[in-house]
Amino acid sequence: MRGVEQVPWLYDLGLAFLEATGLGGWRKWLVGLDGRAARVLDLGCGTGRNLPTLAARATTVIGADPCIDSLRRARRREPRALLVRARAEALPFRDGAFDVVASGLVLCSVDDPPAALAEVRRVMTPGATLRLLEHVRSTHRWQARLQDLAQPAWTWFTGGCRPNRETEAAVIAAGFAIEPGSRRARGSMRRMVASAREGET
Ligand SMILES: C[S@@+](CC[C@H](N)C(=O)[O-])C[C@H]1O[C@@H](n2cnc3c(N)ncnc32)[C@H](O)[C@@H]1O
Repeated sequence: MRGVEQVPWLYDLGLAFLEATGLGGWRKWLVGLDGRAARVLDLGCGTGRNLPTLAARATTVIGADPCIDSLRRARRREPRALLVRARAEALPFRDGAFDVVASGLVLCSVDDPPAALAEVRRVMTPGATLRLLEHVRSTHRWQARLQDLAQPAWTWFTGGCRPNRETEAAVIAAGFAIEPGSRRARGSMRRMVASAREGET
């Protein structure tokens, strides 16, 4: 199904507005790697809005996204990044390939978050970090109810986004520990750094 997420010019227009009105600070955090990383995966890179900053801070940056039109735009935006057409649920990378996985506004759109998170864990080196920026199900009952009611139309309009996902719970259930100091919550927005809990596969 084609929605805003699959129409690159429209997606970029909407995101430019959202970033100018508040989302920009969250994205700046997402791409603000602590120090210089060697190998970074931008999971669900879309039109490549994270890529220029990541490419300036990492030795190798790979962007993965299932939408070919978005990847074409990402290629124009950041020629240094390697781009792969792939779904998070089946990543075409070897185990332990990345030191950092960054993912912005993607787990709301993947079809199968547990499968996607299992793949993220698999491709992370031991000690690697997952930097996540997401919007999640509201903690207020009536707002969550509104999200539930709006979800079918919103998913159709956006081409995949589900506004009512319990993504933080999914991250923990997938065997990640969220670094307490990294977590920020404002309304439905969340950001966090997570790493694989030791001893869990
Ligand atoms: C809201 S956009 C975010 C794009 C980009 N990360 C950003 O911050 O602007 C969601 C992206 O997730 C991608 N996506 C949807 N399903 C996916 C999946 N199963 N695996 C990986 N990416 C997926 C979409 O193609 C889209 O580019």
